[in-house]
Amino acid sequence: MKKLGVAVVGTGFWGRNHARVFKELEETELLAVCDINAERANSIAKQFNVKAYTSLGKMLKRKDIEAVSICTWSINLAKGALAALKAEKHVLVEKPMASSVKQAEILRETAEEKELHLTVGFLMRFIPGIQHIKEAVENKTIGNLVCATAKRVSEWPERIGDVGVVKDTAIHDIDITRYLFGEEPTAVYAKTGNMKHKKFEDYAQIMLTFESGKSAFIESNWLTPYKTRTLVITGSKAIMKLDYITQELTIEDAKETMQPRYSWQEPLKLELRHFANCIAGKEKPLTSGMDGVKALQIAEAALKSSATNRMVKLR
Ligand SMILES: NC(=O)c1ccc[n+]([C@@H]2O[C@H](COP(=O)([O-])OP(=O)(O)OC[C@H]3O[C@@H](n4cnc5c(N)ncnc54)[C@H](O)[C@@H]3O)[C@@H](O)[C@H]2O)c1
Repeated sequence: MKKLGVAVVGTGFWGRNHARVFKELEETELLAVCDINAERANSIAKQFNVKAYTSLGKMLKRKDIEAVSICTWSINLAKGALAALKAEKHVLVEKPMASSVKQAEILRETAEEKELHLTVGFLMRFIPGIQHIKEAVENKTIGNLVCATAKRVSEWPERIGDVGVVKDTAIHDIDITRYLFGEEPTAVYAKTGNMKHKKFEDYAQIMLTFESGKSAFIESNWLTPYKTRTLVITGSKAIMKLDYITQELTIEDAKETMQPRYSWQEPLKLELRHFANCIAGKEKPLTSGMDGVKALQIAEAALKSSATNRMVKLR
């Protein structure tokens, strides 16, 4: 089998996981890593026996690199992704995809013009329980959807200094709500603020409403001293609860409480294998550039809602 030649840009906390998984997968061959921090790039390159670059331009000249993961600081994601697309590489850009909707749109349009695969790192879609919930929503075993409640709270990861909790953390739940509901929210109301972080919001409560009457409540913060990542989906016939950390799914209906058993799987491995298989034309993309644009639009509307203390309508 011909392996997909890949490289990782940004070898911090998350990028080094991308590098490890690309190295482990049968479908991919990790060829290089790039980081503006030479020491970091060299140490990861040495660990995985690949070439280190500090210049993205230089690395992108390599013809054997067909696809790249962009895992830089969030403010630099769009610039790196655009350079890679312009160099004819397929791209997985980490969330939040870009610093603004405008930049995200440029990425989406460039990928479309060049007929390249562009996807966004919405990792939660690859938690197996999410696929079970999606099935239950589609075949209506959960009944009609009423609402979703998501909680993603933990202490502030000090490495994040360029975006707030809405674009960094709540964006996962914004994306999952759109994905599971199969519908765009029509309005957003949010309250955000900062207790510890000097520059950006470190807590957010976001309510999304949908034309069909459904709604979603998203609670995110970098304050709570223990880590919780949960999702509750309420349907007219059953309630489904997912713990993203343990991957345990609980289904409660009028008669019983069930806990379907399936083995824990590393979501990043599922995501990067899917990325390679999409490029090879073997799978249909689960997440598009448009999903990234839409999630960012909703995140920006949430920030606007909080700043203006009003509900913001979404087109
Ligand atoms: N999908 C997920 O679940 C998930 C999880 C964690 C992080 N992330 C995302 O991954 C990205 C990286 O997060 P992190 O926690 O690894 O951050 P980090 O600060 O640990 O690492 C970022 C690295 O990027 C490098 N860098 C910055 N600008 C660069 C540039 N222009 N070119 C090359 N290298 C550059 C930095 O030197 C640093 O080594 C963020 O956008 C974050 O939102 C996603």
